[in-house]
Amino acid sequence: MVPPGYPGNPHPLLYNKRGDTMKHLLNITDLKKEEILYIIDKAIEIKNNPEKYAKSLEGKTLLMMFEKPSLRTRLSFETGMTQLGGHAIFYSFKDSPLGKKETISDTAKCASRFVDIVMIRAYKQSQIREFAENASVPVIDALSDMAHPCQIMADLQTMKEKGKDIEHMKLAYLGNGNNNVTFDLMRACAVLGSTCYVGCPADEEFNVPESVLDECSKYPGKIVVTHDAEEAARDADVIYTDTWVNYGIPVEELEERARKLKPYQVNQHIMSLAKPDAIFMNCLPAMRGYEQTADVIDGPQSVVFDEAENRLHAQKAIMLFLLGKL
Ligand code: CP
Ligand code: NVA
Repeated sequence: MVPPGYPGNPHPLLYNKRGDTMKHLLNITDLKKEEILYIIDKAIEIKNNPEKYAKSLEGKTLLMMFEKPSLRTRLSFETGMTQLGGHAIFYSFKDSPLGKKETISDTAKCASRFVDIVMIRAYKQSQIREFAENASVPVIDALSDMAHPCQIMADLQTMKEKGKDIEHMKLAYLGNGNNNVTFDLMRACAVLGSTCYVGCPADEEFNVPESVLDECSKYPGKIVVTHDAEEAARDADVIYTDTWVNYGIPVEELEERARKLKPYQVNQHIMSLAKPDAIFMNCLPAMRGYEQTADVIDGPQSVVFDEAENRLHAQKAIMLFLLGKL
């Protein structure tokens, strides 16, 4: 399975250790359409044949740097590395001299001497980008202010497994449009050529920034931002929502944010406007009664736990791909 676009090359990509250009995964658009489709197919294959890959990263080490909390990302990366025969190091920003006694650039240069691949969860993607620019190993954005590409790869895998045509579907995202997961969902639909409606409030705090719309406009997919939740949901194949309080936002702001975002809550009425076989997704963590009602997230159209599980399989495929092993 060699993705198209690499004529004469037996490997999809050659990376720095073989003398070629290294690839990082910061936004989903760091992958070409063919690469996204290839990695998703591989993630499904790895899920079905985990033992075949049990030694593929033997002797390799993943560094996992966290500034924000996590359940799924930490567990799936660490478990994934173990299941591929490698090792993962958890490293909290709290324990590091980063930003106090040490620059990002020095951290990246030193870490690259020890480990083979790095994932970073930080508030500012600009920090992850600076790290990547100074690293000599692949770097993955594992959630920043601007992106969550591993989540979106797991989401696309889930959509495909649930029978959705990810190159032609209509995805409706409802809620906070000024949001990392939203941006990468939009970018993914743009790159794949599918349609993404974002239903969100018009005010700047929750609206999609122009810069993200500009990025998406370079790709063939259709991206529509609407402030009408029903328009967004109508005839959608996938209804997606995300938390109303991102990591780092004080919990005291929840009720005020909820007041503004309530018209974009995913409830049974919204689900009834989508296609009858539409699936409901949320990257989690989720708050019942806020971004979706309990009957939706715990109902028959919800695929949120398959979606969470696929973080493991998709990230195995991503790490293998970035390390030139697929
Ligand atoms: N969806 C996701 O990234 O979950 P965590 O914040 O628990 O890692
Ligand atoms: N948008 C959410 C995603 C959590 C995985 C956040 O930033 O907290």
